Amino acid sequence: MTHPTGYYPRIARGVHSYPVDESVPASERLGLGVVGLHEGRTALLAALRTTRVRPVVGCDLDPETCNSVAKDLPEVMFTTSYAELLNNPAVDIVGIYTPDPVHGEQIIAAFEAGKDVVCTKPVVNDFEIAQQVLAAGRRTGRKLFVGQSSRFFESLRRQRRAFERGEIGPIEVVETQYTHRMDWYYNGRPWIAAKSDWVFLGLSHPLDLLRWYLGPIETVSAVGTHSALARENGCTSFDIYSVHAVSTSGKIGRAFGHYGAHELPRARNSIECLLYGTHGTSLAKYHDMEYSYVGEDGVERVEDMLYEYRHYHFNNEVHGMHYGEFANYLQYFADALHTGTDYSPNLNEGLETLCIMEAVRRSALGGGQPVAVQPLMDELGL
Ligand SMILES: NC(=O)c1ccc[n+]([C@@H]2O[C@H](COP(=O)([O-])OP(=O)(O)OC[C@H]3O[C@@H](n4cnc5c(N)ncnc54)[C@H](O)[C@@H]3O)[C@@H](O)[C@H]2O)c1
Repeated sequence: MTHPTGYYPRIARGVHSYPVDESVPASERLGLGVVGLHEGRTALLAALRTTRVRPVVGCDLDPETCNSVAKDLPEVMFTTSYAELLNNPAVDIVGIYTPDPVHGEQIIAAFEAGKDVVCTKPVVNDFEIAQQVLAAGRRTGRKLFVGQSSRFFESLRRQRRAFERGEIGPIEVVETQYTHRMDWYYNGRPWIAAKSDWVFLGLSHPLDLLRWYLGPIETVSAVGTHSALARENGCTSFDIYSVHAVSTSGKIGRAFGHYGAHELPRARNSIECLLYGTHGTSLAKYHDMEYSYVGEDGVERVEDMLYEYRHYHFNNEVHGMHYGEFANYLQYFADALHTGTDYSPNLNEGLETLCIMEAVRRSALGGGQPVAVQPLMDELGL
């Protein structure tokens, strides 16, 4: 099995284990050290599905969490000390999967230790720390990839490839959403209600997709409100957002997020990306792995790849964690490091998305007035 750049494994139906691929010797694989072992556990396991990354260190403040993840990964070293992870010469890439407010300081420490970084979305959620991260990136020259997992889900990858082949023509409008009932997510995570904002936590997915298809965003106007679930959990930020965006090329997009919704999963998926082009329209869905499109012949076609990819992406859990997306982006970033090619989203793009998110937050707090994105980027020094 070989994995040329841009190719990801296609796992046949019913295959429940991953053959060890010897095409890239272990000595040439980049060592991954992951901090924050809830989502980060998935990242360590996902590395086993790549040909260029191998899990070497796991780190969490909570020793019980370390012990429980260690059972799945006997060859990996576990520690409660982030400094120990950074001092380990086997670690080439640091994967950061801690709560959003911790990302900034951990990225800077990883850069200073000479490591490249994969940081889950949102890269940071605060302007002051964003400036420090940008300065550290420039000072050390280290690379950072933002783990925008949705882009690496099979239906959204298929949609992107078709768009790049020109199948729906140039984009006219983009509509994206991420809605998900988050009652389970508030449990045991006080940082959600007190120290973050759903614009960074949830809306980072649809806003990243808008930016990916529309290009640089000039202004956003947004309204927000609190769901009953947000009120019950004392959540300070809005958890329902409706956003209109205008790109610098004059195209429009809208993004919607609702994190207290009662879901209607047969009718709507949590993440949807709808592209209206001059020659056709396409829709990609997460978590159903469905890609639908119509061209000028007017025939609607639906590709449903859930059965084929369910094990790779979901580990056969019922729509479980993001194994496939994390494996795909680890492979993609490691390939880019290996070949020295550009990759996306990098640190600058992640911080540009932070400016879009911050503009949305300010617009919603201001009752929907348009907020320009460029002044925020100037403030950051982008
Ligand atoms: N689609 C995705 O890519 C996706 C999905 C969910 C969450 N996330 C992101 O992943 C991150 C983590 O989310 P989560 O749901 O796993 O959070 P969580 O609170 O469930 O888990 C965080 C883990 O980090 C550990 N931790 C906290 N501070 C630490 C520190 N300073 N050093 C070492 N360990 C520390 C905690 O003990 C805990 O085990 C967040 O940034 C979130 O936005 C991304």
